Amino acid sequence: MNAPVTSLAGLDLRAEIERLRRERNAVILAHYYQEPEIQDLADFVGDSLDLSAKAAATDAEVIAFCGVRFMAEVAKILSPDKTVVLPDMAAGCSLEDSCPPEQFAAFRAAHPDHIALTYINCSAAVKAHSDIIVTSSSAETILSQLPMDQKIIFAPDRNLGAWFNRKTGRDMLLWPGACIVHEAFSETELLKLKIEHPDAPVAAHPECPAFILDHADVVGSTRAILDFALGTSADTIIVATEPHIIHQMEKGAPGKRFIGAPGADGNCNCNMCPYMAMNTIEKLYLALRDLEPRIELDEAMRIAAKRPLDRMLEMAGRSVGRGDVGRR
Ligand code: 13P
Ligand code: SF4
Repeated sequence: MNAPVTSLAGLDLRAEIERLRRERNAVILAHYYQEPEIQDLADFVGDSLDLSAKAAATDAEVIAFCGVRFMAEVAKILSPDKTVVLPDMAAGCSLEDSCPPEQFAAFRAAHPDHIALTYINCSAAVKAHSDIIVTSSSAETILSQLPMDQKIIFAPDRNLGAWFNRKTGRDMLLWPGACIVHEAFSETELLKLKIEHPDAPVAAHPECPAFILDHADVVGSTRAILDFALGTSADTIIVATEPHIIHQMEKGAPGKRFIGAPGADGNCNCNMCPYMAMNTIEKLYLALRDLEPRIELDEAMRIAAKRPLDRMLEMAGRSVGRGDVGRR
């Protein structure tokens, strides 16, 4: 039994969130990078693809999205009749910031023979200018369905695009964006850690630069990394992604040791996502109480952004009917 989380004038926030979840007919979706208390309160914790599929399928009236803004926008795009709240509307993403919609539209226009395969970590406006959305767990399946001679623009993450170019033998044209969190890992510090733990495999997210991925034993989405960490026979695993995912690893395999890959000085917090950290239990409670801050989207843009998202869900085999995710 977890100790009560009290604040906001001594409220038992867990109990209050539980009450509001029922009263509002709300579902709480959380990304693996959220703080452990939020993950433990959520109805579902997942990677971007799983969270998109859940958002499209839920029967709940309210989606409280504990993740970053583009993820909550995806929920609204796919479930427009639902109220979607994000505990802190300032929870953005450096990849989204690296790809302003007007510049992306101009880049597309300059390459009329290319299709735009766009990473889900972007604004709704950029999605509206895209042909197919991908996540790190769906990109390979989707690429396998496109002809090898198809010209492709990949935005906004140059590291992820370079990784899939390498894996699939393609030559996608890469937008020069990057994630500040995954770019913070240090190769020198990782190599020191590998010397200290020679038998520990390294599991890395493909948003990491090639100089980190070159040392990885497995590269995949947050869920793929989690599945690997739980399934491997190794008893120590080095994790090169945002370290809050280690919470699920420790819950699933309490006997193993999970070590977060270090940042530049070997001991910084630079690989914690500052945007994910903006969501707190207090803000989640307020969002459920007030049904604010709420995601609202221009309807024409929502429809335009839905088309490439639907293509992703179809091509990834994730088009689902309503009702397969409810409250706990
Ligand atoms: P996943 O789809 O692997 O969960 O990645 C989301 C993300 O933002 C990684 O930085
Ligand atoms: Fe965006 Fe990077 Fe944070 Fe993921 S970890 S939400 S890509 S800033």
